[in-house]
Amino acid sequence: MIFSLFQKKRGQNDQETPAGQRHVRPMVAGDIPHVLELINDHDEDDATEAEECFADSLQGMFVAVDDRQIVGVTGADAEPATSDIAWLSWTYVEKNRQREGIGRYLVNGLIGELQNAGIRKVFISTGDYTENGEDIYAAAKAFYYDLGARLEMKIDDYYALGEARYIYGLDINEPVSTPPPAQSGDLIFCGLEEADESAQGVLLSWREYIPQKDSGLAPAEQLADYIDQAKSQNARFIGAAIPFDLSEGAIKGLKKKGFVQVGELKDYYAPGNSQLFWKLQATGKAR
Ligand SMILES: CC(C)(COP(=O)(O)OP(=O)(O)OC[C@H]1O[C@@H](n2cnc3c(N)ncnc32)[C@H](O)[C@@H]1OP(=O)(O)O)[C@@H](O)C(=O)NCCC(=O)NCCS
Repeated sequence: MIFSLFQKKRGQNDQETPAGQRHVRPMVAGDIPHVLELINDHDEDDATEAEECFADSLQGMFVAVDDRQIVGVTGADAEPATSDIAWLSWTYVEKNRQREGIGRYLVNGLIGELQNAGIRKVFISTGDYTENGEDIYAAAKAFYYDLGARLEMKIDDYYALGEARYIYGLDINEPVSTPPPAQSGDLIFCGLEEADESAQGVLLSWREYIPQKDSGLAPAEQLADYIDQAKSQNARFIGAAIPFDLSEGAIKGLKKKGFVQVGELKDYYAPGNSQLFWKLQATGKAR
């Protein structure tokens, strides 16, 4: 859906744009070496990860071109759980061109595309990794705030012990004024998966409770088994990212097992229907 719109601008030729002008265009395969170099100047590991990612697909990726040179990259990934939210992905501005307004120009260009495609909200994930006592994402956080994004959730010890995950939300289309949905259903926990980019964090997977099929099963019935399983895998924490409208029974079970609610991402699944994040420290090592 959204990315078919992006394709229309493909083919724009940087060399045909007048010298001294800026534009934002979809990233193409020929841009990969330059973009990787640009990312590598910020962080080698990020460049390695980006290389793998770009080999898979360049869908939703954009570059900023200034005076015929690529000076920044950004992108968005559609969230598969919904039809109208997206996550900001690889966003970097040439190291010696920071603080010239390129990032704002580039990401606002991306947001324009997302708005046209009917995306109503963008989430942005970052961390608080420090080097020599300095938060290396401090500039990024100030930048997201400047864009209008607001911190919605901080998950302590997410990436590693002492390294939190921050999730910002940015409404980009007028919220649809529908009332919050009634608590209409339930869910069943049905497995464990690795938490994205986390060292030894796991998440409970879930599916909607189907009365015809699942009668007799309590929403949080298998929790004890999954907690044991996670502990035997040496998991640091167990998380549950669940929709508000299916959460009533699950919350009772999570509370009983000692999980605590860390926060919520507003209007995630639909306007009025948040994603709730519950967490249990699985080892004694975490704070
Ligand atoms: C974050 C980043 C993309 C911002 O790009 P940029 O082109 O330098 O940002 P802009 O010049 O458009 O800045 C827009 C506003 O953001 C804020 N901002 C950006 N960098 C900032 C900084 N270092 N300190 C404080 N505020 C900052 C300011 O409000 C700024 O407006 P102002 O200059 O008028 O005061 C760039 O710093 C970068 O590439 N960082 C390293 C990569 C990174 O951390 N990416 C995010 C990974 S999660």
